[in-house]
Amino acid sequence: MTEKIESYLIKSGSPLPGYLMDLERETNLKVAKPQMLTGHIQGRFLSMISKVINPNRILEIGTFTGYGTLCLAEGLNKNGLIFTIEVSKENGWLAEKYFKTSSFNDQIHLIYGSALDEIQKLKETWDLVYIDADKQNNQQYFNLVWPCVRKGGLVLIDNILARGGVFKPENEKKSFEKSVSIFNSEITKLAIGGIVTILPIRDGLTIVRKE
Ligand SMILES: C[S@@+](CC[C@H](N)C(=O)[O-])C[C@H]1O[C@@H](n2cnc3c(N)ncnc32)[C@H](O)[C@@H]1O
Repeated sequence: MTEKIESYLIKSGSPLPGYLMDLERETNLKVAKPQMLTGHIQGRFLSMISKVINPNRILEIGTFTGYGTLCLAEGLNKNGLIFTIEVSKENGWLAEKYFKTSSFNDQIHLIYGSALDEIQKLKETWDLVYIDADKQNNQQYFNLVWPCVRKGGLVLIDNILARGGVFKPENEKKSFEKSVSIFNSEITKLAIGGIVTILPIRDGLTIVRKE
């Protein structure tokens, strides 16, 4: 998306909650690789999707500084919970700070650990899953969560364009770009009983709904 389109869309949509502006600013100032943060337009999309399905249980894989968590939490029903898994305390400290001061603090469970291990400990039925961690494991994450998604539930997978890496000739692709390309080519087969739509938001977002 060009800067011109992005700023036009931001200006035309509803204003962002102030705490998300603060979180983005603080992430830029204090955390390495701030570009990993989900960002304004995709964040508003996550919030809207969550509000539409009004989930009881959300799983986020890859917390970073908690921007996506807070966007997704906006749609939780009043007894709903969001579980978010992060491997790095260097990233999670800022998420913790913003979760504590948010109105969703009691509904957010931040889990430190490797997502492949931690997902399997959660005995939940998911209404909404956001996969946004180490991209080479997308397929494993999808296979782990898909059986636990309820009918009508959604799985969102971020960065499926690998910053353009999926368009490179095969022999020039880095290993994560190869993994993302393979995942994209297999997702309609992996999503048994589901339908797959891919949006060109930011770095590409796949949406899978269990039918
Ligand atoms: C793209 S960022 C997540 C952005 C976040 N979802 C947001 O909305 O701003 C990816 C995060 O996944 C974490 N991560 C990478 N590998 C992981 C793993 N195996 N288990 C859990 N978290 C992991 C990284 O430390 C990083 O904070």
